[in-house]
Amino acid sequence: MISQTLREARKFEETVEKTIPGAERPDFHLSTRVGWMNDPNGFSFYNGKYHMFYQYHPYDSHWGPMHWGHAVSDDLLHWEYLPAALAPDEIYDRDGCFSGSAIVLPDGRHLLMYTGVQKEKFKNGDSNAIQTQCLAVGDGVDYEKVENNPVLDTKDLPDGCSRSDFRDPKMWRKKDGTYCCVVGNRPADGSGQILLFTSRDGFAWSFKKVLAENKNRFGRMWECPDFFELDGKGVLLISPQDMLPQGFEYHNGNGTLCLIGSYDEDTDTFIEEKDQSIDYGIDFYAPQTVLAPDGRRIMIGWMQNWDTCNLHAPERAWLGQMSLPRELSVKNGKLCQKPLRELDALRSGRVEYRNVPVCGNISLEGIKGRKADMELSLRPKEKGDIYQKFAVRFAQDENYQTSLSFRPHEGILKIDRKFSGSRRAIIHQRRCLVSAPNAKKGELKVRIILDRFSVEVFVNDGEQVMTAVFYTDQTADGISFFADGTVSMDIVKYDLCR
Ligand code: FRU
Repeated sequence: MISQTLREARKFEETVEKTIPGAERPDFHLSTRVGWMNDPNGFSFYNGKYHMFYQYHPYDSHWGPMHWGHAVSDDLLHWEYLPAALAPDEIYDRDGCFSGSAIVLPDGRHLLMYTGVQKEKFKNGDSNAIQTQCLAVGDGVDYEKVENNPVLDTKDLPDGCSRSDFRDPKMWRKKDGTYCCVVGNRPADGSGQILLFTSRDGFAWSFKKVLAENKNRFGRMWECPDFFELDGKGVLLISPQDMLPQGFEYHNGNGTLCLIGSYDEDTDTFIEEKDQSIDYGIDFYAPQTVLAPDGRRIMIGWMQNWDTCNLHAPERAWLGQMSLPRELSVKNGKLCQKPLRELDALRSGRVEYRNVPVCGNISLEGIKGRKADMELSLRPKEKGDIYQKFAVRFAQDENYQTSLSFRPHEGILKIDRKFSGSRRAIIHQRRCLVSAPNAKKGELKVRIILDRFSVEVFVNDGEQVMTAVFYTDQTADGISFFADGTVSMDIVKYDLCR
C-alpha cells in the first residue's frame, strides 16, 4: 500500500519535473528530480540495472522532511527517474527517512535499510530526535516498510551510545551468506564511532562490535559509513562532521575520510593503518559505493557541502547533484579514484596538442566548452628550470572563470571559484598538497571533467581528487592556460555528451 504522503510526493515530482529545462541540469551527472537532493542512498545493482536512491525533499530546493528519491541506469551516466521510493509516513520515521543502503535478497527482492527519525518533544518546548534503523522491501519501484520496524533501536545500543546520532546503515553480504551493516554513532566522548551489526536473514539484526572509533581525532560525529574489502585491504569511508584542519589533508567543517587497514572477516576485526581525505576539493560528501557485477568497486558522492548549500536564492528550482561515478582501487596503501570507464563512450571531438610551450596567457584552437574531458601533462620546458606557477582557467568569459593552479615549489594545487558568480563570503578556494614526489619537479598530470556546473580534477591517475560546483552561465565556456615561467604541456581534450 502506498501512503498518501508518498502518493503526493510522486504526483508532485512528476508535474514539477517538466518545469526544469534539461539544459539547466548537469548532462551526465545525476541531479535531483525536483527540489532538493543530498546523500546517495541504496546504491546497488538490482535486476540488471544500477539503482541510486537519494536524500530528497521534493517540495523545496532546501533540505526538509527527508524522502528517498530514486533513479536507475545501465551505465551510471544515463539516468532515468523512478517514482520516489520512501516518504516519512510512519510514526517511527515521521521526521525523515534518512540515509541508508540496499542489498538484493536471495529470493530476488530488494531490501532497503534506512534511518527513521522521530522527534520527541518535551514540555519546555525542547525536542530531541530519536534515530532508529528501519527496513523496506520492494521490487525496484515500490517498497513496503516492514511491520516490525524499527529493526534496530535504542535497546540494541551498548551503554553510552547516543540514540540521537545513530544513522546511515550500509549493508553488505559476507561470503558465508550472513549480513552485516555499519552505522554511524556518537559515543560518550562526544566524537564518532562506527558500529557493526549482523543478521542471518537481513531482517533480524543484532549488535556485534564497535568497528572503528574516532576518539576525537577526525571531527566529531561520523556520518555515512561504507565498509568493503578492496585489493586485499579493509576500507572504511566516513564523512565526519565538525572537522578541524590538519595540514593540507583535512579542512574545517564536514569532510571525507578514508581509513585503510587490515580486515579479518572471521572475527570482524578492522585494524587501521592509514588515513586520508577522499576528496580535497570543496564539494564532496557522504560517498557510497556499489560492487559492480564485473567486480569494480564504484563510488558516488553528493557533490555539495553542508556549509554552503543553503545560500542559494529561494526561487532556484533545484539543488543537488551527485559526483561522477569513480572506480576505486588501493595502491601502495592509498585510495585511488578513476572516472568510470563508461565515460569514454561519451567522448567526441578529440583535440590534441603535444609539447605546447606555455608562458604567460595562451588559449588553444578547439579547446573550450562546459562539458569536457581534458587530460593535461605538465613539465618544465627546460629540465631543472622549474616554473613558479601554472594555471588552467575554465568556464571563462570576460567576467567569470574557475581555475586550477599549481605551484610546483610548494607542491600545491589550488581550485578557485571566486570568480564564478558567488555573492557570498564563503569558501571559494581549496588547496591540496600533491602527494606525488615529482610534483616538486614541476611534473603533474591532471584529468579535468566538466559538466555544466561542476569540475572534478583527478590528479596523477587518481591519487588525489578535487571536486567543486559553480553556477555561472553556460556562455562562459572559455578555457585558457597561464604560466609564470615556462611549462611544456601535452593536452588531449574531448567534448562530453550524453
Ligand atoms: C549526511 C546526513 C546523514 C543523514 C542525512 C540527512 O549528509 O546528515 O547523516 O542521514 O544527511 O538528510
